[in-house]
Amino acid sequence: MLPNSPADAADMSGITQVYPILWCEDHILLIDQTRLPREYVLVDIRRSSDLAEAIRTMIVRGAPAIGVAAAYGMYLGAKELAATLGDWDRPRFLAGLAEVAAMLRETRPTAVNLFWAIDRMTGLAQHSQAATAQAWVAELLAEAQEIHLSDLKTCYRIGQQGLNILPDRPEKLRIMTHCNTGSLATAGYGTALGVVRSAWRSGRLERVYAGETRPRLQGAKLTTWECIQEDIPVTLITDSMAAHCMAQGMVDLVIVGADRIAANGDTANKIGTYSLALVAKAHNIPFYVAAPLSTVDFSLPDGTQIPIEERDPAEIALTWGEPICPAGTEFYNPAFDVTPAALITAVITEEGCVAPEELPSLEHALHPSVKR
Ligand code: MRU
Repeated sequence: MLPNSPADAADMSGITQVYPILWCEDHILLIDQTRLPREYVLVDIRRSSDLAEAIRTMIVRGAPAIGVAAAYGMYLGAKELAATLGDWDRPRFLAGLAEVAAMLRETRPTAVNLFWAIDRMTGLAQHSQAATAQAWVAELLAEAQEIHLSDLKTCYRIGQQGLNILPDRPEKLRIMTHCNTGSLATAGYGTALGVVRSAWRSGRLERVYAGETRPRLQGAKLTTWECIQEDIPVTLITDSMAAHCMAQGMVDLVIVGADRIAANGDTANKIGTYSLALVAKAHNIPFYVAAPLSTVDFSLPDGTQIPIEERDPAEIALTWGEPICPAGTEFYNPAFDVTPAALITAVITEEGCVAPEELPSLEHALHPSVKR
């Protein structure tokens, strides 16, 4: 259980028990998500390059959390520039910050929140009227903290919006989810798991079924851990059990998160999401995507252009460090897939729940607009 909460989130304290990113006086603390649930360890991050490495190695992961972390990475980079470049020279500082942005952009390609946050920080840095390097760095810190706090509030609103789509019936609901979309994947509270959390707190949840999420097992390691922190009844299944559970009538609805949603509603999310959507369709079970508007990439007309990250084959080849297949086996390890909008019942955002084709009607609420 975490003792801390984001420094300026007093009005939100208590909305969740887990904060994966903590601002601590002059540096960042990250929960090392590669070590959960075996160990709860906080990693001290003081340099932008260490922050980039933490995103790449998935110490911090989940689209909104990656965005928040990247915003602090930009701040740390600005602070390093102020320490090395000397006197305030606006073009040199902006050129240096562009290099930090480029380094952070190289970490993970699919979650658009990363690029959204970097662009937002870059925009602020470019338009700043600061007269000194110190003032410029202070403005960047304030912006990162604003991104951090507003993600927490946004997730809470997604959770509340999600209550509106839950079937209105006396029986409690059985919700299936995939990967980890909870507090750990955001500033706190979560998106899809935030809706589950809200359903639980309002007495409408019987149980959540968490898919283990091969190969990195975010469902098995992280979603179960989060649910257990809050006594949310959770049953872990392997990914291949989803169809059987639905056929047995064990699931009322599916809610997943998103890494990038195209303007037409096609949704990139953790590998296995597409199969889950197909199986839900076959069993006439509603399939929802829960995500902040910062996850919608309105510049992409459909999902075909969403870059899909491919990760190290070792994630498939080894289990607990031991090879599970013969030498000479070849691998394909895409970390995400794209679920066509036609399989998605609705998208739950902080501004409301809409059919995928209605997403553009919410674009005005996204400030500044997503660009990559
Ligand atoms: O590879 P990960 O663990 O970063 O992938 C996370 C997911 O796919 C989540 O479903 C998505 O980022 C939404 S998190 C609120």
